[in-house]
Amino acid sequence: MRGITVRGCGISLPDKVLTNDDLSATLDTSDAWIIERTGIKERRVGGITSQMGAEAGRRALEDAGLQPADVDVVLLATTTPDALVPGTSATIQEQIGVPGGAFDLNAACSGFVYGLVVAAGLVAVGSGRILLIGSDALSRITDWDDRALAVLVGDGAGAVVVEPVDGPGDLLSWNMGADGSLRHLLKCDHGGYLFMDGKEVFRKAVRVVVESAERALSDAGLQPADVDLLVPHQANLRIIQAACQRLGITEERTAVVIDRYGNTSSASIPLALDDAIRNGRVHDGATLLLTGFGGGMTWASAVLRWRA
Ligand code: ACO
Repeated sequence: MRGITVRGCGISLPDKVLTNDDLSATLDTSDAWIIERTGIKERRVGGITSQMGAEAGRRALEDAGLQPADVDVVLLATTTPDALVPGTSATIQEQIGVPGGAFDLNAACSGFVYGLVVAAGLVAVGSGRILLIGSDALSRITDWDDRALAVLVGDGAGAVVVEPVDGPGDLLSWNMGADGSLRHLLKCDHGGYLFMDGKEVFRKAVRVVVESAERALSDAGLQPADVDLLVPHQANLRIIQAACQRLGITEERTAVVIDRYGNTSSASIPLALDDAIRNGRVHDGATLLLTGFGGGMTWASAVLRWRA
């Protein structure tokens, strides 16, 4: 039996910071409204998915003490590829200098957790190390005159190295779900802008995240009290708070970076994970619960033991 362990973490963010006050200068909104309704104070914009993904990937390799040649596959979770064809993962593969395969995965904001499960599956059938990257440039598909979305989105990338180990490994449980009948709630047509029914997404998100997280915990034989750190998708602080409350996991045990980065889709979970690691919040042997939801709708959760 071959399992996985996760080694190394790296992120990348564009330099340009857009504050709530910057947005309020052109939109009928305010810093107070955005903070109260979303928890977001600022976000980064102007990113390019391949560039951010490659930088985050390089940093994850450095953090793990590995070379590009040590990796077999680049797996990129993204909803905002540089182009429809070719896959952006191939551009990243070339930029980093990884010798193996490369493919994109689109499960919207659940993409990073889906990617972790797919990486574990590849390892189970014999793959070597996988560089798993979540990178998104939502600023490129946002109508900056649409206040409902402009206040929420941001750009960024995060990456980890998924490594084979003998035995069951550190992915203790996982689940993935989707409901395509809800695809109208969050969408972006070819060449168009992101559209969202915010209220409905909010309502559904809390329910699916809680159900998915509870199922993953139960499959791992764990209780919410066993979770050292919840790393949720960062879409709205109120969604995170509502999920924490229903799961019985305190906000002190939750990774939150939405105040600084907004909703970065596939990047939000690794951005939050990296922040928690850098701030000494993830000890050796910690039990992490990663959980996300997004357009599709899709959702996914994973329970992961962290090895420092
Ligand atoms: N600034 C000021 N006022 C606003 C803004 C804004 N940016 N947006 C809406 N309003 C107004 C509305 O017009 C409304 O005014 P009214 O009462 O006079 O009609 C009032 O504020 C309340 O609007 P609601 O839509 O009820 O606000 P809500 O509390 O639901 O918050 C939000 C809206 C933030 C969009 C919330 O519904 C949400 O976060 N939804 C989920 C978002 C999400 O998770 N998306 C998933 C991922 S997004 C992605 O992947 C890209």
